[in-house]
Amino acid sequence: MSIYRVVTKLVLAAVAGGFAVTVLAGPDEDRQAFVDAYKWKFPDVPFAEYANGVYAIDKIGRENWEAIEEFPPYEIFIDEGRGMWEKSFANGKSYKDCFPDGPGIAHRYPHWDKQQAMVITLPLAINQCLEANGEKPLGYKKGPLVSLLAFMAFESRGQVTNVEIPQDDPGAVAAYEQGKKFYFTRRGQLNFSCATCHLQNTGMQVRTEILSPSVGHTTHWPVYRSKWGTIGTLHRRFSGCNENIRAKSFPAQGEQYRNLEYFLTSLSNGLELNGPGARK
Ligand code: HEC
Repeated sequence: MSIYRVVTKLVLAAVAGGFAVTVLAGPDEDRQAFVDAYKWKFPDVPFAEYANGVYAIDKIGRENWEAIEEFPPYEIFIDEGRGMWEKSFANGKSYKDCFPDGPGIAHRYPHWDKQQAMVITLPLAINQCLEANGEKPLGYKKGPLVSLLAFMAFESRGQVTNVEIPQDDPGAVAAYEQGKKFYFTRRGQLNFSCATCHLQNTGMQVRTEILSPSVGHTTHWPVYRSKWGTIGTLHRRFSGCNENIRAKSFPAQGEQYRNLEYFLTSLSNGLELNGPGARK
């Protein structure tokens, strides 16, 4: 049995084995198992490269991507988002009052909020800010909210992913475990899990695309996708991947996807943020 199989099996066993095993396999062990699995598969790819997603392992796609990044298609959205950040709400306040440390705070999300007893993502925090100020919340998959996210991602470049799962908080641990379970659960007509494509078959080609590693999946959102013709959020991508395997997709910013984001982002701990991104 190859080392890669052993590592994959370890992670899978941790999920299948329920509590006794998952207690042993905490977030740090999980992340290390993923990092080791990819390292075994792609020994020449330095860890920091994973922030570039599939382009860490797809040399041909990378050339196109680098050309696109010279005139980034997401630039106008950053400008639009900056305008939103600067603009006052009807009550005279603005996003600056909700986020007093400024726009470069994407690395603080997602996080476990003890008071609300849930995982708070940046899009959710933005809508909570709007609602607290008597403004209408924005759509979660495309549109103005995504432009604001693009601006905040741009301002957060160079910050480092560092998701904490407070082990003394059962709610946080449960949210993480649910996200992890979601990642490994097979679903849809094809009976695939996220892990089937993004852990076991990373580097393989599906139609015209190469499957990316999950370490690095969260560093660069929102993303301009040629296929979308615009920028979209991580949860829009989750929906797309679920629909690809003909599984039902869940609501953006619902509990399932927030917990999934919590787990998935923790796998990228130590990687720099480099959003917004551009992808095929
Ligand atoms: C049938 C295989 C398949 C399954 C199952 C699948 N995906 Fe994907 N996913 C893809 C392909 C193909 C892409 C585009 C190429 C790439 O970056 O991997 C992609 C892209 C992504 C991206 C964007 C990567 C980037 O750099 O922007 C994320 C995030 C992602 N998938 C997460 C998930 C999650 C979470 C699940 C489980 C809910 C999942 N995927 C299930 C095939 C799959």
